[in-house]
Amino acid sequence: MHIYYVNGHFCHKDSSFVSVEDRGFNFSDGVYEVISFHNSKIVNLDKHFKRLQRSLNGLKISNPFNNFKSLELIFKRLIKINKIFDGFIYLQITRGTSARNHQFPSSISPNIVIFCFLKKDIKKLLNGVTVGLSDDLRWKRCDIKSISLLPNLLEKQKAVEQGFYEIWQTTDNYITEGSTSNAFIVTRDNIIKTHPSNNFILGGVTRDCVIEIVKKNNLNLEENAFTIDELKICKEAFLSSTTAGIIPVTKVNDFKIANGKKGNLTIKISKLYHQYIDEQLNE
Ligand code: PDD
Repeated sequence: MHIYYVNGHFCHKDSSFVSVEDRGFNFSDGVYEVISFHNSKIVNLDKHFKRLQRSLNGLKISNPFNNFKSLELIFKRLIKINKIFDGFIYLQITRGTSARNHQFPSSISPNIVIFCFLKKDIKKLLNGVTVGLSDDLRWKRCDIKSISLLPNLLEKQKAVEQGFYEIWQTTDNYITEGSTSNAFIVTRDNIIKTHPSNNFILGGVTRDCVIEIVKKNNLNLEENAFTIDELKICKEAFLSSTTAGIIPVTKVNDFKIANGKKGNLTIKISKLYHQYIDEQLNE
């Protein structure tokens, strides 16, 4: 776990360096991905690569890899050297190193940092978590997985201080998404609702999997934002992310969802999601 990949080298994290003039350090001028692996096999890789390319395009950073196959090989080597079987890969690509200047410098190459980290024990979350609500303070390009995460950090910290697992952010009474996850409800008519994938949310890879699974199993899904009032009367709620998977939401502020228990459809989607991952792992 101590071996990192930095700009072409595999080295111990204590001797891995990026310049203090890295534009990620000075301006948050970069993008990232968090990718899961089980039994050393990487999960949902194509979806992560597609989103990575969209994020790079969004910031006009040229892709430092000729093809994603070479990046996949780096991931595999890092997993092997670090001797971890189940964990996450963190990948960060910034515009590069240059004297501080807002405009994009010409002819610099991106800085790449990749490392692995271990999974946290999420057993406690599986019976349901509580969520608080807060105004969405972010910019209008939340679809870019940018390393500029200050509003998300402030919201997550608020969640922790107020005793919630997560904050669901709101714009004009509509829920956009969590500070680190996407948000779903199941309405009284059994319609699964989640904010459309546009510039106001990060199009989560796990969210995409949920949508695929739901469609394949002929469940009803609408990619339409839901309001706080709809949330208060919904049948079930859940959140999704690479690091947590699918987690039931049983309380929002002080109102209980589904009598404070995880809902049946949430349980079903979570099982289907695990099958979906297992199919990839068994390929
Ligand atoms: N965060 N929305 C936001 C704002 C997120 O930060 C994340 C994930 C998601 C879910 O995306 P995915 O299903 O692709 O993980 C949605 C990661 C895990 C993080 O920043 O650590």
